[in-house]
Amino acid sequence: MSISIEATDQLLTTTRSVRKRLDFSRPVEPEVIEKCIEIAVQAPTGSNQQGWAFVVVTDAEKKKALADLYRKGAEIYITMPQPERADDDLRTQQRPRITASSMYLLEHMHEAPALLIPCIQGRVETLPQFAQASTYGSILPAAWSFMLAARARGLGAAWTTIHLFYEKDAAKILGIPHDYTQAALLPVAYFKGETFKPAKRIPPKQLTYWNGWGETR
Ligand SMILES: Cc1cc2nc3c(=O)[nH]c(=O)nc-3n(C[C@H](O)[C@H](O)[C@H](O)COP(=O)(O)O)c2cc1C
Repeated sequence: MSISIEATDQLLTTTRSVRKRLDFSRPVEPEVIEKCIEIAVQAPTGSNQQGWAFVVVTDAEKKKALADLYRKGAEIYITMPQPERADDDLRTQQRPRITASSMYLLEHMHEAPALLIPCIQGRVETLPQFAQASTYGSILPAAWSFMLAARARGLGAAWTTIHLFYEKDAAKILGIPHDYTQAALLPVAYFKGETFKPAKRIPPKQLTYWNGWGETR
């Protein structure tokens, strides 16, 4: 079976961080989440370790506890220095919209029908860079595949990391073993509306070097 380039490109360019358009009132079938995880584990892992774990949280009290950690994390995050950028920088212009959207999620995180924490076996704190890259590189592709598979099924998710300021507390709530690293926290819900547009990004030509740093084609 050949894969349609158009459909593939549309999926890849319109899988957004969905926050305001998450439909908190519509339940998500556990089977759909399980199917997305089944697809996610087709992603590669370093040394074929397959050390993934996907913790799906639907219990209201646990979601609330995680959302509280997320909010506490946000209190730290907003005190951290942000990069200074020119007024006409694309990222400066996108910032108010992303901030508003993030504030909305902050208040509603616990309402998501499911929160997903993708985890990987191993801890990165004391590892050399090769092993750090291999550890995160063995979970982030799978987590992104989950988001893509979810998007194809009408589910939105937002990639978030702010609860990781309190990773140990989250591990305690969910009984995640000490030797597992949490990589993200994805609120998952059916999205409202039909379409997502490709985002404006820094032109890829400005980010692509051929045969040496700074060299163009
Ligand atoms: C590593 C990483 C961490 C992120 N952490 C958060 C977060 O904690 N909270 C949040 O609202 N969005 C978070 N985001 C989402 C980004 O802010 C988002 O990708 C950006 O706003 C661009 O939006 P788009 O993905 O819809 O194009 C994170 C994204 C990545 C890749």
